Amino acid sequence: MKQIGQGRTADIFEHQEDENMIIKLYKRSFPEDAINQEFQISNLVYSLGINTPQPIELIQLDHRKGIIFRRISGVSLLKIMGKSPLSINKHSRKLATLHHNLHGHHVVGELRQQKNVLSNNIKSASALTESEKNIIIDYLEKLPHDNNRLCHGDYHPDNVMVGEENWIIDWMTGMYGNPAGDVARSVILLSTGTMPNGTSKHINSVINFLRDKLKKEYVRHYIELSGLDYADIDRWILPVAAARLVEWMPKEEQEQLLKIIKERLRAVS
Ligand SMILES: Nc1ncnc2c1ncn2[C@@H]1O[C@H](COP(=O)(O)OP(=O)(O)O)[C@@H](O)[C@H]1O
Ligand SMILES: [Mg+2]
Repeated sequence: MKQIGQGRTADIFEHQEDENMIIKLYKRSFPEDAINQEFQISNLVYSLGINTPQPIELIQLDHRKGIIFRRISGVSLLKIMGKSPLSINKHSRKLATLHHNLHGHHVVGELRQQKNVLSNNIKSASALTESEKNIIIDYLEKLPHDNNRLCHGDYHPDNVMVGEENWIIDWMTGMYGNPAGDVARSVILLSTGTMPNGTSKHINSVINFLRDKLKKEYVRHYIELSGLDYADIDRWILPVAAARLVEWMPKEEQEQLLKIIKERLRAVS
């Protein structure tokens, strides 16, 4: 099978018998529940009319679980930005507009609730003490529930594909909750990050500069579209950063995340 893409959780292959389909094949150790969840959430999101690849069926291949999706044509916004860094403002605005559009959908019931997802992850974060976890969870509970809006849960430029149309992919973490929390997660994703070992100092500083520009322009435009204040987003940073500690990431990135968390903890306790 010809491989056409790769993410953190899965490899993407062309379907051998149908060129209009792709197979997202998960890493062998990947939990089955999460794959079923991605299938279910993708179905729901597709049925809402959001531009996302239509999920067709769950399959098993070479002892790996997978999902067949309809193939879409496009290139990830991350790749596009890499190729035309001078247009970063334009791309950041697209990132914000598409995010704001998906937040226009009300959903309840079938999806997990943002505060539950966050507090479950915070409870499992081994890098935090029990007392730190309690402070963050109490703080989270006091944040505004707001309306039950569709949230992506992992919205970043590699989960947006741009072709003749714009597509939002990779819905495993889809949930309902407060859009400000969903934007805070994107801010965290755009704030921390490391390049592979051996990347030169120069490349590193260029990447950091672009990432910062992307983040600022994305937030500025999201605020403009939504009418939120930056404070509405900023107050979600602490719980969202703490919840992210359960995900695998390079040690240096975890240290950046912990630094943000410790600073914010000092401010609330
Ligand atoms: N339906 C699709 N049609 C065409 N390419 C796809 C499709 N879904 C995913 N891809 C390609 O595979 C990459 C990884 O997919 P993604 O669902 O984000 O995987 P992961 O969960 O591992 O991040 C995407 O960036 C894209 O290049
Ligand atoms: Mg992805």
